[in-house]
Amino acid sequence: MTGTILYGAPAPGLVEVPAGATQVSPLIPGSQDLAAMADASVERAVVLAPGGVLERDHVLAHALRVLKPGAPLLAFAPKDKGGGRLKKALEAFGASVGEDARRHHRFSHTVRPQAPTGLAEAVAAGAPRLSPGLGAWTQPGVFSWDRVDPGSARLIQLLPALSGRGADLGCGLGLLAQRALASPAVTALIGIDIDRRAVECARRNLDDPRVALAWADVRQVPAGGDLDFVVMNPPFHDGGVEDRTLGVAFVTKAAAMLRRGGACWLVANRHLPYEQTLSTAFGSFAVRDDAQGYKVIEARR
Ligand SMILES: C[S@@+](CC[C@H](N)C(=O)[O-])C[C@H]1O[C@@H](n2cnc3c(N)ncnc32)[C@H](O)[C@@H]1O
Repeated sequence: MTGTILYGAPAPGLVEVPAGATQVSPLIPGSQDLAAMADASVERAVVLAPGGVLERDHVLAHALRVLKPGAPLLAFAPKDKGGGRLKKALEAFGASVGEDARRHHRFSHTVRPQAPTGLAEAVAAGAPRLSPGLGAWTQPGVFSWDRVDPGSARLIQLLPALSGRGADLGCGLGLLAQRALASPAVTALIGIDIDRRAVECARRNLDDPRVALAWADVRQVPAGGDLDFVVMNPPFHDGGVEDRTLGVAFVTKAAAMLRRGGACWLVANRHLPYEQTLSTAFGSFAVRDDAQGYKVIEARR
């Protein structure tokens, strides 16, 4: 039996969260998996709802599923990231919803109905699946879950045959890692991502004894300075807000993970200013491709 579940990391003071609430967001390493929790086992749910419709409804349906009948649910989101659509989304599950607004967010208050409708359908619509288009396992909410990101596609095209031990930082579904592993000279590869759903998909997509995966924040992982290569398409959003320091932290961590002479292949949107960090953290770097808004960079430690 669980007291309160919390999905996401609301800004301090935005909502009241009881001490000891169980975190269930897949974007917070170490959190519990909401999908694995028992039906009608939770006393209260506080959900910072994600913006994507399939992902949002999947999360709300699971939250209603795990709540005891009559137990309260508070779901909220920024007004410009789907907050205005939450009430309707909950009403579609048969809930009666009260609404208020403050600090640029909309808040929907409800309780778990005795007989909610459409939960199984929403759970299924947002669940992991094998995508024929991608040829890979994926799940709504994971980065670029329904198409190959154009930047990643470019790096996949340009990546030379790599060798030795390497890492895919922010591995997502594992598509860059898959390309790196096509080289038989690669002996080991660690994929790291902060999104548990991505790591679980990557586990299925990279069924290879050379692979290890970690659900972790790249900024927190130790760097041994002994890898031969790193591949990455660094994130530049944190919680939906552009955060260039995140990409800069990835570049710095990649350099710290590499041995002297090791190579980092990365792709970035052209507007992202990584050059300063690359020149400080690496011995040399060169732009290998600059087209359609993306630059592919090879940096040598
Ligand atoms: C631009 S996507 C690239 C995904 C994948 N490599 C690809 O090319 O399709 C960046 C990835 O970094 C992950 N990420 C974001 N912040 C992270 C962090 N602090 N630590 C680890 N991974 C992170 C995201 O979940 C996302 O999967």
